[in-house]
Amino acid sequence: MAKSTHAAPARATATGPFGVGLIGTKFMGRAHSTAWGKCAQFFDLRREPRLAAVAGRNADETAAFAAKWGWRRATTDWRDLLSDPEVELVDVSTPNHLHAEMSIACLEAGKHVACEKPLAGTLADAKKMVLAARAAAKKGVRTFVWYNYRRCPAVALAHRLVREGRLGRIYHVRASYLQDWGGPDTPLLWRFQADQAGSGAHGDLNAHIIDMARFITGDEVTEVAGAIEETFVKERAVVASAGGAISGKGAKSAAAGKKAGKSTVDDAVLFLARFKQGAIASFEATRLATGNQNRNNIEINGEKGSIRFDFERMNELEWWDHTLEPKLRGWSRIMCTDGSHPYASHYWPAAHLLGYEHGFISQAADTAAVVAGGSPVVALPDFEDAFKTQCVLEAAIRSARERRPVPIRELDKF
Ligand SMILES: NC(=O)c1ccc[n+]([C@@H]2O[C@H](COP(=O)([O-])OP(=O)(O)OC[C@H]3O[C@@H](n4cnc5c(N)ncnc54)[C@H](O)[C@@H]3O)[C@@H](O)[C@H]2O)c1
Repeated sequence: MAKSTHAAPARATATGPFGVGLIGTKFMGRAHSTAWGKCAQFFDLRREPRLAAVAGRNADETAAFAAKWGWRRATTDWRDLLSDPEVELVDVSTPNHLHAEMSIACLEAGKHVACEKPLAGTLADAKKMVLAARAAAKKGVRTFVWYNYRRCPAVALAHRLVREGRLGRIYHVRASYLQDWGGPDTPLLWRFQADQAGSGAHGDLNAHIIDMARFITGDEVTEVAGAIEETFVKERAVVASAGGAISGKGAKSAAAGKKAGKSTVDDAVLFLARFKQGAIASFEATRLATGNQNRNNIEINGEKGSIRFDFERMNELEWWDHTLEPKLRGWSRIMCTDGSHPYASHYWPAAHLLGYEHGFISQAADTAAVVAGGSPVVALPDFEDAFKTQCVLEAAIRSARERRPVPIRELDKF
């Protein structure tokens, strides 16, 4: 079951604001700064986050970032956060190979950790993180993972519809996450280097749809089969500075665009899977689906109905109610902005639409609720939960490389 383990209060005696320390100042650094800065305005929080300190790599850039986004202090050494008494929670928004080292050090220093996804670049790192989280949990220290799409009202509604039994037995999960920014003109960012990213589109995009499938169905993958991976663009231009955008727009080439380096990750991975309760599933992630910019899609077919979600129309959930008499059956397009929809009442009147940042704001609010000893609106993944997604990612890679079905039980032992 994709449940939150955040039932017990975390240091419930603490009161007043809690300090957040952020590591990373680019794409997710910006998204998370918005989230921490705005969540107490939209949600009534018992303990509000305070933007205590931000850690980056370049002193001038980090200071400018702190001034712009409201962080009180800037540092170029993330380890400063470990001894900062004002920081209660560290937000790890750095490339995947740094998640383990940073998260484990923070947990050992007694800080709650909210880490970006995927949990780690490798299964071995992810296991170390789970062990550190288990040790920290005994002292009331919490972990969180930014699987932000759970907090789109439409996705949270889909989860509730399944839990209410409205889809009945689930037969099919069909998920694809399609982007198109990874063509030959995109430089050799960290996202194309296996020693930093772990994998390419797979850990970046399949991670999200595996998490969403587990969250919406409340079920777990037991076996992966038939996976294939492909690297279409074998070499990319080497750059000195990536410019902040995922596409590397604004990147500065190290040698006027002449020097090329090898891409060591997949550009696309497709695989099939079985769920514990009998559903079968397909997953597809690519950065080369020309014309699909951020199409995070999931479709679930059950005996009593079906749902469809596409992030490019993130405010809508499509629902087919098969319990209606045949003459009334059809796809309904639910605008998930009514006060009765998860999270929507915290924002604007009906059909005053939400955007990308609202998922992060809602996640920061849920995280703050758990830090204060409360509960999230819908289940919030911790390291233990995100490890299950990591096992599915690893199973798909093994299935592709070894050309065989891979049971999850082969991977999830400690
Ligand atoms: N939840 C989502 O939808 C989502 C979207 C994009 C990225 N991500 C994840 O967020 C993480 C960061 O991705 P991003 O897109 O923000 O990358 P990015 O390249 O835009 O930013 C990475 C940041 O990490 C900083 N950094 C790197 N090494 C550092 C170090 N040693 N000390 C301090 N800072 C360091 C960089 O300076 C930069 O500010 C990744 O794990 C990625 O998978 C999640």
